[in-house]
Amino acid sequence: MSTSTAFARIDLVKRPSSIPPRPALVEERRAKPFIKWVGGKGRLLPQLTPLLPPGVERMRHVEPFVGGGAFFFARSPARALLSDVNPNLIATYQAIRDDVEAVIGNLELLAAGHSKEAYYGVRTSYNLSLGDRSSERAAQFIYLNKTCFNGLHRVNKKGEFNVPAGRYVKPRILDESALLAAHRALQKVEIRCAGFEALVQSARPGDFVYFDPPYEPVSDTARFTAYAKGGFGQDAQRKLRDVFRELDRRGARLMLSNSDVPFIRELYGDYRIDTVAAPRAINCNGRGRGKVSEVVVRNY
Ligand SMILES: C[S@@+](CC[C@H](N)C(=O)[O-])C[C@H]1O[C@@H](n2cnc3c(N)ncnc32)[C@H](O)[C@@H]1O
Repeated sequence: MSTSTAFARIDLVKRPSSIPPRPALVEERRAKPFIKWVGGKGRLLPQLTPLLPPGVERMRHVEPFVGGGAFFFARSPARALLSDVNPNLIATYQAIRDDVEAVIGNLELLAAGHSKEAYYGVRTSYNLSLGDRSSERAAQFIYLNKTCFNGLHRVNKKGEFNVPAGRYVKPRILDESALLAAHRALQKVEIRCAGFEALVQSARPGDFVYFDPPYEPVSDTARFTAYAKGGFGQDAQRKLRDVFRELDRRGARLMLSNSDVPFIRELYGDYRIDTVAAPRAINCNGRGRGKVSEVVVRNY
C-alpha cells in the first residue's frame, strides 16, 4: 500500500458564526484514524493488506469492531458498514460524516482553551450529556481522546468517562485535514452502534468482513478487557466464532485478528490461520512493549 500523501485543494463551507473565518484552503490527504484507540491496527496494515481476498475492491467492507478504523480508512472503500458497541465512538463517527464543519468549529474552541483544569471541565460536561449525539459532544470526545492519559477510553459503571488528564506538553487536538479526510471517506458509509451479533442480520454474500475484537489475553496479567462495560470474555469469543461460522455459511469473505493463544487456535481450527508479528503495548500501563504474535484467521 502506498503511503504517499495526495494534496489537493478544497473549500471550507458552513463554519459556525461564532468562529472567525480562516483561510479557505486546506490540504486534502488520505484518510486515517481521527482518534487514538487501544488495539489500533495502523502498524499492522502492511501485513494485513496482502491477506485481503481477491476482488475485494468490488465488495462491501464490513467492520463490526471498528474502533479507530485504521483498516477502513487505509482502504477507504466505496461501500462500507461500520459498527461498534461504544455509543460515544459511533456518535462521533456519525457527526464527522454528517456535520464535520461543526465538529471542527467546536474542537477549535476546545483546543484554544486547553489546560489541565479545562480538561476536567470538559470531562464533566461530557459526562452530563451521555446519550447526546451533537457535534459539540463529538468534539468533546475527540478532545478528551487527544488529551487524556494514553488515549484510553474507560468508563465507570454509570458509563461516565473517568480517565485522568494526560501529560502532553502540546497535544495536537485539532487536525483539520485529518477530520476532513475522514469525513470524505465516511460519505455513503452506514454507521451503527451495535454488538457484533447484530451482523448476522445484515451480512450478505459479497461482503468482506474484518473482525478485530478485543483480544483474548495472552496471560492473566495482560488481561485488559475494559473496552466496553462487561468486558469481552471467553463466552463472547465463542459467540463470535459462531457468528464467523454463520457468515462463512452465507458466503461472505471473512478475516479476523486475535492473539496467538491455544484457545483462539482451537476455536478457529477449521479455518486458515496465518501469523503476523505485531509491535504493540501488551499491557495496560504501557510497559512491556515489544513484538507479539497475532493470528489472522480467514475463510478463503
Ligand atoms: C481491538 S478494538 C478495534 C480496533 C480497531 N480495529 C482499530 O484499528 O482501532 C475492539 C473494539 O471492539 C469494540 N467492542 C467491544 N465489545 C464489542 C461487542 N460486543 N460488539 C461490538 N464491538 C465491541 C470496542 O468498543 C473496540 O472499539
